[in-house]
Amino acid sequence: MDSLSVPVKNIYLPELVQIQEIIEETRDIKTFRVQRPHDFEYRPGQFAEVFVPGKGEAPFSITSSPTQEAFLEFSIKRVGTVTEALHRLNPGETVGVRGPYGNGFPIDSLRKQNLLFIGGGIGLAPLRSLINYVLSAPYRGNFGDIFILYGARTPQDLVFRWELEEWKKREDLSLLVTVDRGDDSWRGRVGLVPEVLKELSIDAKDFKAIVCGPPIMIKFTIKTLLEMGFQPGCIITTLEMRMKCGLGKCGRCNIGPYYVCKDGPVFSYEELQKMPEEY
Ligand SMILES: Cc1cc2nc3c(=O)[nH]c(=O)nc-3n(C[C@H](O)[C@H](O)[C@H](O)COP(=O)(O)OP(=O)(O)OC[C@H]3O[C@@H](n4cnc5c(N)ncnc54)[C@H](O)[C@@H]3O)c2cc1C
Ligand code: FES
Repeated sequence: MDSLSVPVKNIYLPELVQIQEIIEETRDIKTFRVQRPHDFEYRPGQFAEVFVPGKGEAPFSITSSPTQEAFLEFSIKRVGTVTEALHRLNPGETVGVRGPYGNGFPIDSLRKQNLLFIGGGIGLAPLRSLINYVLSAPYRGNFGDIFILYGARTPQDLVFRWELEEWKKREDLSLLVTVDRGDDSWRGRVGLVPEVLKELSIDAKDFKAIVCGPPIMIKFTIKTLLEMGFQPGCIITTLEMRMKCGLGKCGRCNIGPYYVCKDGPVFSYEELQKMPEEY
């Protein structure tokens, strides 16, 4: 290298980190706790590309809170090549991580607000990062009342069960868990998230809603929130478009002029209304 050459950092190069712990959440979802890469500062709602040598990489929401400084967590559903390879790994093995990417949740605009979190299935993963951030000792006082409505298809499909128990014990939040279909052991609520939402005595003008889940659940939940009187600007959600680079370079994730990986994945419903209906 001559004296004028400056080493260029390869932005596509992941950092190899060790898997510290793997939690089996459901029959097809595992949470991976990995070493936090160097200089990896992130906001709740951002995502990272996780790379399995020989298999490829895919984007995943960071489900841990930035306040948990020693590690990163990803909750990953087994659906195809990369996720199947991830599910075969064990603690002590390595994966590549590059990021963080995306805009994250608009924390400044949520301060002093009452927050209604609505999650469906594995959609609780990105919300969990923000929930644990808001609940952490340094920041809890910056936010108002907290209501969490979480739904899954069956009791066996609920993720973060141990943490739901912790949240249930707290006096500074309300938690309601519902399933579409119960079983003999289920003593909780049965009903679809949008239906259960209708029954909550929540004054729309006092809350901001943050919604994440499968597209069909998001669609009907937003419809219900609008009927309850929520303004489009007070409804925040995340999009899961197909992505490749994660960096706004390849054009894989664009909707009109927007790159979901860079301008999103978090958008208010007001912003989504202005976009072409491709999402
Ligand atoms: C910002 C963002 C955050 C995400 N966060 C999470 C997360 O926290 N946990 C998680 O489990 N997954 C998450 N995903 C989805 C995850 O990236 C995909 O499931 C992953 O790419 C699958 O990779 P694969 O190689 O295992 O599947 P592939 O072999 O590529 O595909 C398997 C099957 O899934 C379909 N598929 C793949 N990706 C998508 C997609 N994005 N939308 C719809 N269908 C798809 C394919 O068509 C195919 O049928 C996120 C995606 C984005 C964009
Ligand atoms: S994933 Fe490449 S531009 Fe968004």
